[in-house]
Amino acid sequence: MLSNSWATAAASALLWISVPAVAQSSYGSQSNSSDSLPTVDLGYEIHQASSLNSTNYYFNNIRYAAPPLGENRFRAPQPPAVNRSEIQTGDQRRICPQASPAWQAIANDFVPEYLTGQTEFNQSSFNTSSSGSSSTPNPAETEDCLFLDVVVPQSILRRSGRGYGAPVLVWIYGGGYTAGSKSGSGDPAGLIARSQDNGDDGVIVSDDGQAELL
Ligand SMILES: *[C@@H]1O[C@H](CO)[C@@H](O)[C@H](O)[C@H]1NC(C)=O
Ligand SMILES: *[C@@H]1O[C@H](CO)[C@@H](O)[C@H](O)[C@H]1NC(C)=O
Ligand SMILES: *[C@@H]1O[C@H](CO)[C@@H](O)[C@H](O)[C@H]1NC(C)=O
Ligand SMILES: *[C@@H]1O[C@H](CO)[C@@H](O)[C@H](O)[C@H]1NC(C)=O
Repeated sequence: MLSNSWATAAASALLWISVPAVAQSSYGSQSNSSDSLPTVDLGYEIHQASSLNSTNYYFNNIRYAAPPLGENRFRAPQPPAVNRSEIQTGDQRRICPQASPAWQAIANDFVPEYLTGQTEFNQSSFNTSSSGSSSTPNPAETEDCLFLDVVVPQSILRRSGRGYGAPVLVWIYGGGYTAGSKSGSGDPAGLIARSQDNGDDGVIVSDDGQAELL
């Protein structure tokens, strides 16, 4: 349970903001094959939803900045290049480079003991044989990782471009700028369903670029 305690302790941020609902969207027919899923025109690209599950559309891996490589490395994000030659489907999964700090193994031994009252520690309190171990990189890891997932209830997308707004929840995952990903906390369908219980209807944006906020 505590294996990710440091990651969850590092702030995961949530905020609701109110923005106009997605600008320009269009539908094919309502069956759920990939050529009938809606597209959204972002100006620099046209992005198609990857799936419709229950009543939510999932727009995955939307590029929101130029690749932070070469001259763009360690700089503020630059606008994405225009690419309207093909409809983007976001089918390439990407996550930012992942790293486990060497102190994580010690923290995993320390935190549960400290929380249950132990205050004296010495070297034999900790299993350091696992610290510094490197695991095989996830094949989805890449520095070109400034992408968003957007989950939109069908009812909101249908109203888009007609002057309605929608509350938007932006999820910035925790992980101390070294670990985690925009999809690491699971499917936001439950959050949307809970907001609908309250009579609201919202859009969820999950950001994978936090390493670039450094
Ligand atoms: C679709 O949504 C349901 C309910 O939220 C969930 O249990 C299921 O795993 C989802 N399926 C996919 C393919 O995401
Ligand atoms: C434009 O997008 C398509 C589809 O993702 C991609 O195959 C192509 O390489 C992109 N073009 C440029 C110039 O990046
Ligand atoms: C380390 O602490 C444990 C328990 O607190 C104690 O039994 C042990 O003697 C200590 N070892 C050293 C080298 O101080
Ligand atoms: C120490 O960590 C290693 C690697 O995770 C594990 O194989 C080993 O069983 C652990 N030893 C103890 C005493 O917890």
